[in-house]
Amino acid sequence: MTSRPRLAGKTALITGAARGIGRAFAEAYLREGARVAIADINIDRARRTAAELGDAAIAVDMDVTREESIDAGVAEAVKKMGRIDILINNVALFTAGEIVDIARADFDRVFAVNVGGVLFTLQAVAKHMIERGGGGKIINMASQAGRRGEALVAVYCASKAAVISLTQSAGLNLIKYGINVNAIAPGVVDGEHWDGVDAFFARLENKASGQKKKEVGQSVPFGRMGTADDLVGMAIFLATAEADYIVSQCFNVDGGQWMS
Ligand SMILES: NC(=O)c1ccc[n+]([C@@H]2O[C@H](COP(=O)([O-])OP(=O)(O)OC[C@H]3O[C@@H](n4cnc5c(N)ncnc54)[C@H](O)[C@@H]3O)[C@@H](O)[C@H]2O)c1
Repeated sequence: MTSRPRLAGKTALITGAARGIGRAFAEAYLREGARVAIADINIDRARRTAAELGDAAIAVDMDVTREESIDAGVAEAVKKMGRIDILINNVALFTAGEIVDIARADFDRVFAVNVGGVLFTLQAVAKHMIERGGGGKIINMASQAGRRGEALVAVYCASKAAVISLTQSAGLNLIKYGINVNAIAPGVVDGEHWDGVDAFFARLENKASGQKKKEVGQSVPFGRMGTADDLVGMAIFLATAEADYIVSQCFNVDGGQWMS
């Protein structure tokens, strides 16, 4: 017996979905019957991804650090799909280094994307959801990095702690409109992003390429790094009516690394 797709008739806008975890979310939502707007600053790659994923996917040019770009992207998604039922705030930048080396420009850049990008994309989509009525689902991508500081990852950790806090406040503020705001905190997820992190630690700690990934994988209670596909179950669930009573929460999907 085949079950009914869980997001049939729904529309989703996913930021940073040209690659990585966002792309996996887009694929999963499409499998579940949704139409998906792949919003990314890398519009060429977003177009390629949308073309690979089929007719129910569209590419939208969006820079989450600029309000006019967010508004234009949301308007384009609404025009092409009719409405937005689900937003996944997935874009983030990673940065690392010694505390004494953190530059103001790097801090500003990461907070503009990871915190401002989440807040103002959420705001634009929430306005649309309030105007059209009927509620909606907003999922913010946090991280285990937002649960505690790390010696070499201060700015990224602080930005993800801010995402968890924004999720709490926005969820409390928007539930009166039937808009659920929740977050997912992944652990370590293999992919292009982690290729870069591995290369960073290879330089910093004089490790062989791939060594850092091996070490972090072994430290996960589950026994390996996560994959983007490990996260899709939670992203689907939080977008369904089964999650209607869940407000302002952040769920760890990390192979058992963090417990709070
Ligand atoms: N990969 C991990 O191990 C991991 C762990 C915990 C949390 N996360 C979180 O999951 C999310 C996705 O991670 P990922 O590893 O797939 O990321 P990624 O770096 O692979 O992809 C990020 C995407 O965002 C796009 N982007 C960058 N700046 C943008 C901007 N200003 N406007 C619009 N798009 C922009 C990029 O073009 C890219 O397509 C992030 O929020 C990340 O912090 C990832």
